[in-house]
Amino acid sequence: MGIFTCPVCAGNLDISGNSYICQNRHSFDIARSGYVNLLLSKHTGKTVHGDNKLMVQARRDFLEKGYYSPLRDALCDTVCGLTKNGGIIFDAGCGEGYYTAAVRDKIDQSDIAADIYGIDVSKIAVEAAAKRKKQIKFAAASVFHIPAADQSCDVLMTLFAPYCGEEYHRILKAGGAMVMAIPGESHLWQLKEAVYDTPYKNEVKPYELEGFEHTGVQHISYTISLDSRQDIQSLFSMTPYYYKTGRKEQERLAALHRLDTQIDFQLLTYRRI
Ligand SMILES: C[S@@+](CC[C@H](N)C(=O)[O-])C[C@H]1O[C@@H](n2cnc3c(N)ncnc32)[C@H](O)[C@@H]1O
Ligand SMILES: [Zn+2]
Repeated sequence: MGIFTCPVCAGNLDISGNSYICQNRHSFDIARSGYVNLLLSKHTGKTVHGDNKLMVQARRDFLEKGYYSPLRDALCDTVCGLTKNGGIIFDAGCGEGYYTAAVRDKIDQSDIAADIYGIDVSKIAVEAAAKRKKQIKFAAASVFHIPAADQSCDVLMTLFAPYCGEEYHRILKAGGAMVMAIPGESHLWQLKEAVYDTPYKNEVKPYELEGFEHTGVQHISYTISLDSRQDIQSLFSMTPYYYKTGRKEQERLAALHRLDTQIDFQLLTYRRI
């Protein structure tokens, strides 16, 4: 039995044929791509949430080119080092599964056995993730209502995704680990300089989080050189600024043919208290 729970009654879900089913016979079909939709409309409202098709495709195109591979490698080493044999790894807000799949590969290359789960509120994103890696269990679900059993996970990953401390604390075992990736102060500084009249540095919040002990931080900083308009556009549409950009900024962006910009990530680790 896995760790997914019924979003209606919170009972454990078992696989039966092409569905997940609970004791109260609530049933959730597994899509052909392999993910299960555990989103209830009362948790999302009527509007479409999460990343849309264009954003999912842009992220996939960009990440596939390896621009963020130093972060991927540091993440894989960190998660692998924190995972015990028989452990459960959970990626909350997994997007199209680039990092989730990389962790799966890294675990497979080690002598550790572990199950990996991923959720994202965007069905388009989890569908792409499920197609990418059959060996990971993906569900459409919100990080604010996680359909997973209490204290079922050993390592939780939250990578550039919304944070829900209560849910992360609930699903992690006592002593379990949380690995969080956030942009550092200078992340994409030259991209912002090229697009905005008054660019601002990213604000990095204090590391302390309720219910968790902060155990470490890795700073991952380097420069990337983009020499195609498409990569620059893809990178921009992965950022939160994408939503807030006016016409003047769009035009400046479209006129950029090459760009050297700083990458600045922080990879934080926590222990659930
Ligand atoms: C910046 S992307 C990061 C995706 C992935 N972790 C990565 O680093 O490639 C943020 C992701 O959070 C998802 N998201 C937004 N709100 C969410 C929520 N309430 N629950 C789960 N996922 C959410 C979006 O759909 C998107 O895939
Ligand atoms: Zn149920």
